[in-house]
Amino acid sequence: MNILVTGGAGFIGSHVVRLFVNNRPQDHIYNLDALTYAGNLENLRDIEDATNYTFIKADINDLENLDALFTTYKFDRVIHLAAESHVDRSIKDPLIFVKTNIIGTVNLLNTCLKYWEAPFTENLFYHISTDEVYGSLGTEGLFTETTAYDPNSPYSASKAGSDHFVRAYGETYDLPYVITNCSNNYGQNQFPEKLIPLFINNCIHKKALPVYGDGDYTRDWLYVVDHALAIEQVFTNGTLKETYNIGGFNEWKNIDLVKLLCKIMDEKLNNPAGTSEQLITYVKDRPGHDKRYAIDATKINKALGWEPSVTFEEGLRLTIDWYLANSSWLENVTSGNYQLYYDAHYLNA
Ligand code: NAD
Ligand code: TYD
Repeated sequence: MNILVTGGAGFIGSHVVRLFVNNRPQDHIYNLDALTYAGNLENLRDIEDATNYTFIKADINDLENLDALFTTYKFDRVIHLAAESHVDRSIKDPLIFVKTNIIGTVNLLNTCLKYWEAPFTENLFYHISTDEVYGSLGTEGLFTETTAYDPNSPYSASKAGSDHFVRAYGETYDLPYVITNCSNNYGQNQFPEKLIPLFINNCIHKKALPVYGDGDYTRDWLYVVDHALAIEQVFTNGTLKETYNIGGFNEWKNIDLVKLLCKIMDEKLNNPAGTSEQLITYVKDRPGHDKRYAIDATKINKALGWEPSVTFEEGLRLTIDWYLANSSWLENVTSGNYQLYYDAHYLNA
């Protein structure tokens, strides 16, 4: 099979690409990524020379190029992760979220329909989405696959729009698809604009830890490798035209999570206890800030046997250890030097 992964140089995408390249030697994995600020080929150094892997620098907003790529590479299946993914950026500049997350997704759907032939026996459009499409929970309850969409940020609205288009192409054109909606991920290679890597980096450099509002917001955290394993399960054994929620059964209030992270950072950095907590600074709240997310992952657990493989504290320790051991990755990302890697590796190769 020729499997196209979009957004494979990003955080989650790089874990998915690595897993598929290593576990599916009989398949060829094509990683299509525009290398925006969030795309970093250093994430994939360990597998970049694998014989079943090809990187393609391309933009899903460029329909003509997508056409040419489908002609050349004859992709059988698509795992679509490419997106603008940060809520705070979506508040500052919503339009790029509409362009990439909605129009880019529709470009891909149209290209699949053009190249794939009914009855689509070998084909699959696997759309990776977020629990944020469901909006905000009160103190009780969990998001299930039948919870009504109620997005509150430009990011979640754009992801909701893309989910609707994927589903509509299934209904209207019989395009074979699956959608998964996952909770907050954390782990190695996450860009340090999201809560956990930003705060790890700030603890290392003794910079303020900016907690939005009163910190009384809840997220359900999942280790990124467990998300990649769930994606592999759904890709292999999922039922067409179904949605699966993926989550860690792991709710944390932001302020409690930040305090745990500070405690582990102090241990690892040999700081006196309480050093990192002193960096906590309460700042102006994010507009439209969703109070609580929590996933009911019963369906994927019962149907496909998937469950998280690590506890939160194990995953957080693995993550912190990785950032401490890979300070050059962090420095390259914060200085912008990682963006030179593509030229050095691919253009001068
Ligand atoms: P990310 O921002 O780290 O990576 C996104 C990748 O997409 C980058 O490599 C970027 O270069 C690429 N990209 C962006 N615009 C593109 C374009 N126009 N054409 C081609 N490539 C483009 O994001 P992530 O956190 O890895 O998220 C991946 C997917 O998973 C997204 O669809 C996101 O909505 C979804 N998701 C993320 C989380 C999370 O906690 N991070 C949770 C659930 C779902
Ligand atoms: P984030 O990692 O941006 O993920 P999302 O908004 O997609 O859930 O944020 C996680 C939580 O942490 C969210 O409630 C916002 C909060 N947060 C802060 O308090 N301070 C920060 O600097 C950031 C980036 C997030």
